[in-house]
Amino acid sequence: MIPQRLRWGEGLDAGRFLAEFWQQRPLLLRGACAGIASPIDPDELAGLACAPEVESRIVREHGPQRPWQVSHGPFDDADFAALPPTHWTLLVQDVDKHMPAVAALLACFDFLPEWRLDDIMVSWAEDGGSVGPHLDQYDVFLVQVQGQRRWRIDTRPDPPAGCLPDLDLSILARFEPDRDWLLGPGDLLYLPPGVPHWGIAEGPCMTWSVGLRAPAWRELAADWLQYAVEGLADGTRWRDPPGLAPPVEPAALPADLAGALRGGIERLLAGADEALFRRWLGSWLTEPKPNIQLLPPDPPWPADAVIALLREAGRLPRDGASRLLFLPAAAGDTQDLLFANGDCHALPAGRTAFLAALCRRPALQADAVLPRLDDAPCLELLTRLFNAGHFLVPDDDDQEPGS
Ligand code: SIN
Ligand code: CO
Repeated sequence: MIPQRLRWGEGLDAGRFLAEFWQQRPLLLRGACAGIASPIDPDELAGLACAPEVESRIVREHGPQRPWQVSHGPFDDADFAALPPTHWTLLVQDVDKHMPAVAALLACFDFLPEWRLDDIMVSWAEDGGSVGPHLDQYDVFLVQVQGQRRWRIDTRPDPPAGCLPDLDLSILARFEPDRDWLLGPGDLLYLPPGVPHWGIAEGPCMTWSVGLRAPAWRELAADWLQYAVEGLADGTRWRDPPGLAPPVEPAALPADLAGALRGGIERLLAGADEALFRRWLGSWLTEPKPNIQLLPPDPPWPADAVIALLREAGRLPRDGASRLLFLPAAAGDTQDLLFANGDCHALPAGRTAFLAALCRRPALQADAVLPRLDDAPCLELLTRLFNAGHFLVPDDDDQEPGS
């Protein structure tokens, strides 16, 4: 069972959480995901970590000399057979992308803008396993799914952030926790960026980390500049100013050259209009990592077959690797935009209710979209997304999560 709503507990709700804790201070929520049962067991997780397209790590803790050691997947059976009985953790990134049943948990976090959700990392640890005391640059919700893990955290402002030398993972050199909690199945710990934490398995345990994405400005700038430059039709070039005089020293750069070039570059970028920026933004935010791919149905389905399937099944689960976001038309704009794994699809404005229904996790609900499929652009978009692999044909045993 995967819950579809967090249980906030006495006196707390999403609004209060956002106002008082979000990006400010940690929060332990006992039983927030009560009843959660993993659709993936440790052997299946290990199997996933053997697939070349899956990003995984094993962290072992051994000996006083090299207390933490990381190795990167893909692994094979021999790697797992060689592991000791205790003090190791297998961590698999983006399990939500590889397993739609795991992605279903993301519905619990719909009190946050969806573009901020990054991935669900699943870890399996044997007794004593941990990745050491460290801090992360992004917010994380740590959901204890199976077994128990003891979390110690340091909630003081400006904690020491220096790391141990000569390790291939970042481990804090000084860690002085002021909170100590034992988490059991269904408990959740929220940590804002930069809070030192150390979670040690007490017996074998599984933890899911719902990680948030926080793009670095440098990353955003680099991608936007490249996109803008590629998208601009401008073919103009440098021309010397009128009345060029012979230089005194031909190799000396003219004093006003830097200003002129900088001004030209800034004028070029300022010419990239708002519409181009909006398209880049949505495409960038939905662009999957290179190892994450959809599986388009082969052969593609005609529109009427997609409608018939939707009528019969009542819902189409979203593939875990599907990222859909939409941008309603800005004032004066004629198009709503739907972004799907880096692609941009435009619809005539006024169809945001349809787009919202398309993007709803964990599944597309027939009753929300069928009444809108008489509208040709909507039907065409749904068919394109289906044929790109964003939606799945439900299995006979595919159930509503939460049931
Ligand atoms: C884990 O699941 O073992 C580690 C998660 C974390 O500390 O960020
Ligand atoms: Co962490």
